[in-house]
Amino acid sequence: MITTITFVAAFVAIVLIAFVYFRLKPSKAPTVPGLQPVDSKKKGNLPDIKAAGSLHEFLVKLHKQYGPIASFWFGPTFTVSVASPDLLQDLKRTFDRPLELFRLFEPLFGPDSIQYCNGTEGKTRRKTTDPAFSHDMLRHFCENFNKLGEEAVSKLASLPQDEHIPICQNTLTLTIKGLSQTSFGAYFKSDDMCHKFQHNYELCWHEMERRVDGDIPEGNSERQKRFIESLETIKGMVKNVVRLRRESPPQPHERAFIDILIDHTDIYPEKTLLDDAVTYMIGGFHTSGHLLAWTLYFLAKHKDEQEKVFQEVISVVGRDGLIGPEDFGEFVYIRQVVNESLRLSVLAPWGARVQEIDVHLGGYIIPKGTPVITALGVVLQDETIWPLPNKFDPERFSEENVRQRHQFAFQPFGLPGRICPGYRFAFYELTVFLAILIRNFKWSLVEGQPEVERVHGFVTAPKEEIWALIEKRE
Ligand code: HEM
Repeated sequence: MITTITFVAAFVAIVLIAFVYFRLKPSKAPTVPGLQPVDSKKKGNLPDIKAAGSLHEFLVKLHKQYGPIASFWFGPTFTVSVASPDLLQDLKRTFDRPLELFRLFEPLFGPDSIQYCNGTEGKTRRKTTDPAFSHDMLRHFCENFNKLGEEAVSKLASLPQDEHIPICQNTLTLTIKGLSQTSFGAYFKSDDMCHKFQHNYELCWHEMERRVDGDIPEGNSERQKRFIESLETIKGMVKNVVRLRRESPPQPHERAFIDILIDHTDIYPEKTLLDDAVTYMIGGFHTSGHLLAWTLYFLAKHKDEQEKVFQEVISVVGRDGLIGPEDFGEFVYIRQVVNESLRLSVLAPWGARVQEIDVHLGGYIIPKGTPVITALGVVLQDETIWPLPNKFDPERFSEENVRQRHQFAFQPFGLPGRICPGYRFAFYELTVFLAILIRNFKWSLVEGQPEVERVHGFVTAPKEEIWALIEKRE
């Protein structure tokens, strides 16, 4: 009898201990294979990230070593990264973002930016503003995109023959105008104004990327002062955008993104309004500006593909026709080219998600609160999905090839649960600008410039300006 009681007591104790152990263990003892912190927990694997050159390049190495799900320490934070279509699909409905991974960008976007807003409030804000970039709204923007594209052509055509054209400078100016004149009112009209915004943004962005690498300036150093000045210039310009819009409100049919912010004073008190205006402005122009730059660069290198784009534009809209919303479905090859440029440039290399509960992922338990990086760029370069991943080949996006591929192999705008709000905007804008630039000029690269290198920050940009030559098409 005593033996039976002892046995039952021991059994219950073991079950209890096992229960407590397995309940608690996941949040204390991570199981995903990966790296140990380099030295102190405080720095975690930040020195490895720095040595790799960027978080994206670090993730490429990490996944090569440990497979599609791997862990490391982002400073003091245990972090998991996933890099396969199946694992990305498993996260497709998750909305929340681990804020600590994005904190270093907070001085620019502001603490009230949508970037730092999770849960019900974040979802409400997205529901309120997403309609500003719907198909219906974009139809109205086409005329503006055409006008801006033609203006850029006139400017380029007036330059002396053989002038070296800085591609990024031109494409970023175009996309600042494209976004601001459709969604923010007409503040950024002159090139000088766009250059001022772009220059100050670049200074801030570069500074913040240095900080991500642990290179923090002294509080009263010249570097810090320059950073604060640029930050204030950017914010001052965005404040002016809002002020002007309030002073001359649009006709009802012209209401755009900025008007939604201004009208919803319950959701957007002044500080939140300004932080989101800055976030959308920057999130919108530097991504699409660099995508247009990369696409022109790839086409300048690949003349046959450039010619195919030209032929498609001529057959759909002719030499002078306006590009309207009804034409988009017919630009099949342009879409392939833009998709391949998104893939090959690895334009937005990573995103991240977090959940409030322990979850199963790839056969492991991910403790609640663990940041999970969605290594979108690693998947875009995976040679088992994309043979010869460094080759520019728009045929990868032919209808047949797309059908045969996992849908989550290509998610350049993030996962559906919190996809980029500007993804349609970017496609419309890019298609119009590209069609107009290619139908007017033949693009080639200035010889003798160094091989263009990709710098994978939060967005992938070329290390140096890319210089092109253009020849007017007769
Ligand atoms: C080629 C162009 C673009 C690319 C590749 C791109 C990519 C992305 C990605 C990967 C994300 C993160 C999504 C995630 O967390 O899963 C994102 C978020 C965001 N994008 Fe874009 N984007 C582009 C254009 C734009 C444009 C044109 C706008 C503005 C109209 C915009 C505004 C934003 C904003 C505000 C967020 C944060 C949204 C949130 O926190 O809920 N983006 N983008």
